[in-house]
Amino acid sequence: MTNILSIDTSCDETSVAITNDTVVLSNVLWSQASLHAKFGGVYPSLARRAHEERIDWVIEKSLKKAKRELQNIDAIAVTAGPGLAIALEVGITKAKELAFKLQKPLITVNHIEGHLLSVLLKPNSNKKTPSPQFPLLALIASGKHTDIIYARSIRDYELVAHTVDDAVGEALDKAARMLGLGYPGGAILEELAKHGDATSYDLPVPMEGKEERMEFSYSGLKTAMYKLVESEKPLDKTKIGNLAASFQNKAFIHIERMINKALQDYPVRDLAFGGGVSSNTELRKRLRKLCNKYDVSLWTPYTKALCTDNAAMIGMVAYYKFKEGIVLQPEESVVVDRMPRIKVGSPFPWE
Ligand code: KG4
Ligand code: ZN
Repeated sequence: MTNILSIDTSCDETSVAITNDTVVLSNVLWSQASLHAKFGGVYPSLARRAHEERIDWVIEKSLKKAKRELQNIDAIAVTAGPGLAIALEVGITKAKELAFKLQKPLITVNHIEGHLLSVLLKPNSNKKTPSPQFPLLALIASGKHTDIIYARSIRDYELVAHTVDDAVGEALDKAARMLGLGYPGGAILEELAKHGDATSYDLPVPMEGKEERMEFSYSGLKTAMYKLVESEKPLDKTKIGNLAASFQNKAFIHIERMINKALQDYPVRDLAFGGGVSSNTELRKRLRKLCNKYDVSLWTPYTKALCTDNAAMIGMVAYYKFKEGIVLQPEESVVVDRMPRIKVGSPFPWE
């Protein structure tokens, strides 16, 4: 059994998890969302400072929750990319420091691979639960990514589709901002959309009829929404609900059509769905219906806390890397650097 302490500081959550093989013992995060709310997005230098101030506390709390001491830890894992460069650096520096102090191996992890494998994590219980089987398709929908990935096996990934402009979570956040709602807006929009009429406004379906290009694009829908919101001002509660429902509907139809195409091109039995937007109940419902058509099972992380950014998913990837010996000894860890733009499936230069 391997106890791994994992750190993720790729964006605006300071997160530390302790995993035991695939089991989550603790997953503690300190969100900075309220700090960045007034900017409507993440302000990098503020993020770095907040990570620096809180990381030791989050490590301590995570160990305590897992009932582990630092001496019980077999390896340290950290997100090396993609993400915000100066934020990633805080986690990397701390991970190197811990690996050195404990004289334990360091494992570097791709954040997107973390979201992809988050569906394999298990709660700390005796109950045996099933897992998806490879090859599988994965949809990673977050504030920075809208990726469809074909995973032949662990670490054999093909990027099937990605976004050419905004990510879906980013588009939802921007739409929420246009409606004067809080940040991040995806979950707020979901709540409002429940009481709105999705057919009340006519917004375009992104990339309609061009699904074979396998590109996500949200800038056209965003611009249309901006014009619509301006023309509807002053807004009231009913208008806001209807606008939220109409926007979310078209944003999700785009995803449904892309997944439909991917399921036709890649005959798989399982679809993994991760990233912050995977906590959306409406989108889960739509994808489950689509999957049923193809006799495919839809998998999401066992709790919504593992949909948004978290360190437990980094521990999941690290577990496989540890088993395969893809680790750095503490004295080798100086070569590790932040990789803000690394793609999923590309090994780190030091691997
Ligand atoms: O995975 P994540 O925490 O961070 C990134 O790697 O980006 O995803 C954050 C994104 C935000 O855009 C947020 O609005 C969206 O996930 N999100 C949601 C929901 N909860 C979070 N979007 C739609 N519905 C939700 N319930
Ligand atoms: Zn993420």
